[in-house]
Amino acid sequence: MPILPIVTYNDPILRQKTTPIEDLTPEIQSFINDMFETMYNSDGVGLAAPQVGSNHSIFVMDADPMADEDEETFGPMVFINPEIIEKKGEKIPMDEGCLSIPQVTDKVSRPEKVLVKYRDGEFNEQNREFDGWVARVIQHEFDHLEGVLFIDYLSAFRRRMHKKDLKEIDSGNRETSYPVKPK
Ligand code: NI
Repeated sequence: MPILPIVTYNDPILRQKTTPIEDLTPEIQSFINDMFETMYNSDGVGLAAPQVGSNHSIFVMDADPMADEDEETFGPMVFINPEIIEKKGEKIPMDEGCLSIPQVTDKVSRPEKVLVKYRDGEFNEQNREFDGWVARVIQHEFDHLEGVLFIDYLSAFRRRMHKKDLKEIDSGNRETSYPVKPK
C-alpha cells in the first residue's frame, strides 16, 4: 500500500468542497487503505481525502492514542459522506494541529458532542453520537471536507502569530517527518 504525499497549506484543493461517493468500489476501498497507511505513517489521528489531493467525501481516523484513560476507544474508523446532524454541549477550547499545516498548533473552541450521519467502512449507514476527543477530531476532519481549516477559527491576532510559519509551509521549505506534495 503506498503512502500518499500530504497536501499542505495554501494548496487550492484544501479549500474545495468534496463530493459524496456513490458506492464503495474496489478503487475507493484501496484509496481508504492508503489513507490509513498515510495517516499512521505521519502519526496523525485523522486524515481527510482533500489532504491527499482527492475530492471524495471521506475521512479516516484513529483517535485512540490521544484518548484520555477514562474515554471510550473506537479503533480505526472510516466516515464516508458524513453529515453533522447536530452539535451539542459546551464549547471547549483545546489545542489542535493539522498534518497539512505542519508544526502549527493553537486553541480552537468546539462543541463537546456531535451527532453524525455517515457510511462506515462497509458502506452501511450509521447515526452515532460522539463526545470528548473523538468528537473534536470528527469536527476537524469534517471541516476539511468543507474546505475549512482549523486556523480559520483563530483571531486575526493569533493568525498573525503564525504568519511566518504559514509562509514557510506555503513556500515548501518546512521540514516534515512525512512526505508532502512538492510545491
Ligand atoms: Ni487537519
